[in-house]
Amino acid sequence: MNMALSPVGEEKFADTPFRDDVLEGLRREQKCLPCKYLYDETGSRLFEQICELDDYYVTRTEAGIFGQYLVEMARYIGPGAAIIEPGAGNCEKVRPLLAQLQEPAAYIPIDISPEILLAAKAEIEQQLPGLSVEAAIGDFTRGDCWPTTAAFPCARRVIFFPGSTIGNFDPQQARALLCSFRSRLEPGDGLLIGTDLVKDSVILERAYHDSAHVTERFNKNLLVRINRELDANFDLALFAHRSFYHTLRQRVEMHLVSLRAQAVNIAGQRIAFREGETIHTENSHKYSLAGFSDLLRDAGFSPLTHWSDAKQHYAIHYAQAD
Ligand code: AVJ
Repeated sequence: MNMALSPVGEEKFADTPFRDDVLEGLRREQKCLPCKYLYDETGSRLFEQICELDDYYVTRTEAGIFGQYLVEMARYIGPGAAIIEPGAGNCEKVRPLLAQLQEPAAYIPIDISPEILLAAKAEIEQQLPGLSVEAAIGDFTRGDCWPTTAAFPCARRVIFFPGSTIGNFDPQQARALLCSFRSRLEPGDGLLIGTDLVKDSVILERAYHDSAHVTERFNKNLLVRINRELDANFDLALFAHRSFYHTLRQRVEMHLVSLRAQAVNIAGQRIAFREGETIHTENSHKYSLAGFSDLLRDAGFSPLTHWSDAKQHYAIHYAQAD
């Protein structure tokens, strides 16, 4: 039955990284899919909706901290700095900071989506005339798209990494990513980075299983994307959204649960599910202040200070490259 499908699928979907990653992830003992694939156009729109939910404290809390401490942050960064932002997207978060900085030398956003990035570049150049914006297109976790920041004429380079994006990486990967950031910097350069903090699991679970079911749609959109792009036949009604806080691993895990034993065809391949089997779709790691400082030190940074909200739900750290 699927022998007839196989050759067609192999030809039609050969060699795309998405196909390879999906099939490889779904053949594992614990099925999993890389969380970066959650963010297609629909997924990015749904994530923006999540950011506006009352249940999702992350975005609003971070914005509050930036609003309150922008002047202090700008003082740490100092005059004549070049700001580098991996995964900048629409570059919304950096704008108040850029406006606050004293004579910034350059803004260097890196993002995989050229349309959004180039539109943001044009807007920033209009809002802040005189600031040079050097957009770089590519996946920031791969080295090849980074501009050679060492050559940039500036007083100091500062990598800006807000949004608790670091939480999507497990601690080992996070350490490797921070080391790769460090390798782009000179001693005395900076890192301004946001992390979600360890907190009451009720608050965490509400944030990732919201009452408006937007996170559920965000999670299931991955199956919609696979159906569309890899000619698959996931039945959305036969999978449920599940997210929970894993206390020991200090992370919220997001899964899709198969509600019955079933088989799905993806790019001409057949993938079987047991009843109750899950696809692990995302991790969102939470840090203690001490734990994140240790991670920074491990990666060659000295944590200088951090700013937090009154409830200590979220922190923005400023660290200096050793
Ligand atoms: C974009 C990684 C910060 O982990 O909170 C939100 C993604 N997933 N709800 C997070 C997300 C489900 C988000 N980050």
